[in-house]
Amino acid sequence: MAMAGTQVPVIAIDGPSASGKGTVAAAVAQHLGWHYLDSGALYRIVGLAAGDRGLDLDNDAEISRITLNLNIKFDDDRVLLDGLDVGQRIRGEAAGAAASRVGALPGVRHALLALQQGFRRPPGLVADGRDMGSVVFPDAVLKIYLTASAEERAERRYKQLIAKGTGASMAALLRGIRERDFRDIHRAAAPLLKCPDAVEIDSTAMPVEAVVARVLQLFQRR
Ligand code: DC
Repeated sequence: MAMAGTQVPVIAIDGPSASGKGTVAAAVAQHLGWHYLDSGALYRIVGLAAGDRGLDLDNDAEISRITLNLNIKFDDDRVLLDGLDVGQRIRGEAAGAAASRVGALPGVRHALLALQQGFRRPPGLVADGRDMGSVVFPDAVLKIYLTASAEERAERRYKQLIAKGTGASMAALLRGIRERDFRDIHRAAAPLLKCPDAVEIDSTAMPVEAVVARVLQLFQRR
């Protein structure tokens, strides 16, 4: 018998920017053979699309209207907006900052809700973001709150950017991460928070493989 949408198990992995959520969530999904939702990519696409259209990034009415009409497709590793691969553009620091601004708009969050829930398909879903366990999938079988110190997160981002051949300044990255944390934690709409039923993992001194193993172990114990 086919599983009804809400019976499909979800593992929710939330946490601050650059905590390694994406890498961990994708590895857990691959290990289990489940689907993967990178919800931050959706907010990044909305930020990018709003910027491209010259919209004020605080204009909830206009941005939620375009959000409902965006043509977004995830095709293996590619992210397509209106058929164009925007994978590179959405990964930049500017798109991250724009995502954090549009993510503060309640209308935009509402407009993205059904789209995110549509990723819940058999045999299961690993979803990463800020409010996966609190708002989008409150019935997730396992909720993880993944953190690391701001300094460690800035350093990880720095290494990623240098490896890609992009210039970067540690001081600017640390400042950007702190600003983003502040905005994500203090916004009124679905702020970044650790749900009471989430398991916190501090990855400051943990390699990615150890975090992945811990998540899988927690899941197997459920
Ligand atoms: O996970 P990320 O760094 O790609 O997310 C970019 C921004 O998008 C983040 O600073 C806040 C916003 N976001 C959000 O508000 N809710 C989510 N579920 C995911 C991301």
